Amino acid sequence: MDKIRLKKTIRVKVISMGNAETGKSCIIKRYCEKRFVSKYLSTIGIDYGVTKVLAKDREVKVNIFDMAGHPIFYEGKLRCLDSWLAEMKQEIGDPSEMEKVVFCLCANKVDRTSQRAVEEYEGHAWANSKGFHYFETSAASGDGISELFEKLFQGLVTAYENGGKVERINTTLGYTKEQIDAIQRLKSGTDDWKRLGLLPGANKDEINKAYRKYAVLLHPDKNIAPGSEEAFKILVSARTNLLKNR
Ligand code: GTP
Ligand code: MG
Repeated sequence: MDKIRLKKTIRVKVISMGNAETGKSCIIKRYCEKRFVSKYLSTIGIDYGVTKVLAKDREVKVNIFDMAGHPIFYEGKLRCLDSWLAEMKQEIGDPSEMEKVVFCLCANKVDRTSQRAVEEYEGHAWANSKGFHYFETSAASGDGISELFEKLFQGLVTAYENGGKVERINTTLGYTKEQIDAIQRLKSGTDDWKRLGLLPGANKDEINKAYRKYAVLLHPDKNIAPGSEEAFKILVSARTNLLKNR
């Protein structure tokens, strides 16, 4: 009898929610069947599946409810998330039941880098503001999928062990809005003056002062915000160009 004794088995429900064609079914398929189908087969109503996993030394029986994407939330970008959350609250009714839900926000299709609609920091910040987990996933490549489900099941087991209430995560992003704004300005500036936040024709001192201000905000050793490395390179070349062309 040297079989490892597991703790009591628990049952959990996984519900997918989100706009149509975002990849909900593919994420589930990738996790359960380790494969990807590129043809779009819209979910009609609801798809149901079961699986069994091991999380924190516990067997977890999982019932998966894969929902059809709603046709009406087309506000785009992040605003539809507020609508989905409102819908969920309404469906659940009792607000204390919401405390038993582990929320994982997935930014899916990250393999399509050139078609990215929402920046990582925006999605991450939205999830953070609610205490939800955030994952960048690709059902096509498999990126982020096992992390997503691992965190989800661990969160559920932890909640079960703590009397049912889910602990909202309270991570700090590790970067500030000022840093994010600096990255945005450098990346979206249409010329070097704009990138450095200067008026055209500013003098050498002003150029250097602006450079130093941004360098402090963006130095890759200090700034772990997504895009900071690229922005720092843009900053260096903008200063070099402006000083050279004076
Ligand atoms: P509904 O059931 O209609 O709500 O859609 P859904 O959210 O379940 O989307 P589904 O998983 O059916 O995927 C929609 C389309 O996006 C399909 O053509 C998939 O092949 C494609 N797709 C899903 N995930 C990815 C991904 O990570 N990368 C890429 N490139 N395509 C994906
Ligand atoms: Mg679907």
